[in-house]
Amino acid sequence: MTDEPLLDIRDLSIGLRGDGVGYDIVRNVSMSLYPKEILAIVGESGCGKSLTALSVLALHASPPLHITSGSIMYDGRDLTKVSASQMRAVRGAEIAMVFQDPMSALDPMFTAGTLLTSAVQAHHKVRYDVAKSRALEALADAGIEDPRRRFGEYPFQLSGGVSQRVMIALALINDPKVIIADEPTTALDVTVQAQILDRLKELRAERGMSIILITHNLGVVASVADRMVVMYTGEVVESGMVEEVLATPQHPYTKGLLGAVPRLNSDAATLVPIMGRVPQPNELPPGCSLPIVAAESSMSAGPIARILRYMVTP
Ligand SMILES: Nc1ncnc2c1ncn2[C@@H]1O[C@H](COP(=O)(O)OP(=O)(O)O)[C@@H](O)[C@H]1O
Ligand SMILES: [Mg+2]
Repeated sequence: MTDEPLLDIRDLSIGLRGDGVGYDIVRNVSMSLYPKEILAIVGESGCGKSLTALSVLALHASPPLHITSGSIMYDGRDLTKVSASQMRAVRGAEIAMVFQDPMSALDPMFTAGTLLTSAVQAHHKVRYDVAKSRALEALADAGIEDPRRRFGEYPFQLSGGVSQRVMIALALINDPKVIIADEPTTALDVTVQAQILDRLKELRAERGMSIILITHNLGVVASVADRMVVMYTGEVVESGMVEEVLATPQHPYTKGLLGAVPRLNSDAATLVPIMGRVPQPNELPPGCSLPIVAAESSMSAGPIARILRYMVTP
């Protein structure tokens, strides 16, 4: 970890600006992703994890959301300042994303093969048969057993686990240096979750990729990640090596998160719930970000499907 960071987010703030509203949702967030590491971002629903991740590829809804300060350095460039065409060259080819709900992220109108071959052809001037053989390879790389059959199938024909592998294939197909996986296994059952996470770990080892893994599952963090960043109400409240943060959590929210993890040798009576709800960004109390209050939010199917089309459209 003596290398330079591959991706360096510095003092990033993202604000909501519109008729009569103006406040920052993500505030002064800094985090670095080093080569070949798996960095976990944890935090409750609505704390700004997805927004931070989406902003790396300028995929946040803008307007009404805007980057109000800070920088996202990648390969000597500030991604918050590059042109739309420069960003399209980064998106999918250098940095790729895997979204939470594969069923809604995959466009129902296209077969897995069409999505994958268009993702190749968005970045490389190659003939269809070349794109197709890359697509079949990527499906196999994502751990799909029968790539030829899946190539011709529509999303409704795929199980949740296979859909998520197709999303991973889509992310892998142009051999990116960074994969950002936003709750990639939350919608899947536990066995499939474990297989997908194992595959991500293998890919890091085989290809030397760096991965940002967004999750609210500390078990996943402990088994997969090298370092972790804890977010709370739009801010980074703690970060460090996973073992250190989990062994000696500093922030009350992190302590609360750990207290809420069920352990095999503990009975239900020792499970500590985190009380209240996360405050909305426009109702933050003064002072530092302490756990007081909570909010439920997630992106609906619509924007995700649009985002994915955006990624495969040159
Ligand atoms: N397009 C949007 N317009 C307005 N508010 C948004 C938009 N997207 C996200 N938000 C708000 O930003 C906050 C953080 O959301 P998000 O990054 O999705 O949280 P997380 O991924 O941590 O669950 C939430 O309060 C959410 O309501
Ligand atoms: Mg999210």
